[in-house]
Amino acid sequence: MSDQHKGKLILNMKSELPALFPSTTIYNSQTCHILSGGTGALALQLVQHLNAHGAKRFLLLSRQGSNGLRSSDATMLTDLQRFGIEICIEKCDVAKLEDIQNVLHTAQMKFNVSSLKYSLLHLAIVLDDAPISKLNIQRIENVLQCKVTGAMNFLQLIPGEQLENVIFFSRAASTFENPSQANYSKANIFLDNYANQLSKL
Ligand SMILES: NC(=O)c1ccc[n+]([C@@H]2O[C@H](COP(=O)([O-])OP(=O)(O)OC[C@H]3O[C@@H](n4cnc5c(N)ncnc54)[C@H](OP(=O)(O)O)[C@@H]3O)[C@@H](O)[C@H]2O)c1
Repeated sequence: MSDQHKGKLILNMKSELPALFPSTTIYNSQTCHILSGGTGALALQLVQHLNAHGAKRFLLLSRQGSNGLRSSDATMLTDLQRFGIEICIEKCDVAKLEDIQNVLHTAQMKFNVSSLKYSLLHLAIVLDDAPISKLNIQRIENVLQCKVTGAMNFLQLIPGEQLENVIFFSRAASTFENPSQANYSKANIFLDNYANQLSKL
């Protein structure tokens, strides 16, 4: 912010937010940024943030694909594409290994690079809130499959040497549980611990 005294105070806001992530490779223009849950609110903010700092290739994944986009978000993505940003929006259930296999193949073809590097931002989320007394296996699996199985599927399929960054989106609720979100908390606890293990490799 800068200010100048001209009888009244004029404040100019900086137009760009500073980089959120410490690793500069996350903003690499050649890297394919995979955002699971790519049509969700946070993912679409991240696409804009990453692009503002240099990222130019995006693979946005969700079960509904572009059908799940609000029209204002679809317009925002189309505008970015007009500026040469490569954005591929694909239907993919991250809980299904074969879906991820297919979209990785699609990305390879679409971005036409022999050995594509990836940054994974795993945001996909399903909620099925209920007090513990009403939880059953199905309601637990509904939530865990997306966050837990999804994360493991990506790590199983993307060779380590092609994976530049892995970011799991968890939540403070994994530490401070909300009532009725035991399944969501457990999924986030898994991601926190999995990230911790991966960072030691
Ligand atoms: N928003 C917050 O305030 C907040 C706070 C703390 C942490 N977080 C974390 O940030 C992440 C994103 O949150 P958000 O609020 O932006 O989410 P959101 O707007 O609810 O979006 C969820 C996204 O996940 C997709 N999805 C759900 N199941 C999927 C599956 N099996 N395979 C692929 N995609 C799937 C949805 O699309 P389809 O339905 O088409 O599949 C949608 O694109 C979450 O992991 C959450 O835990 C968010």
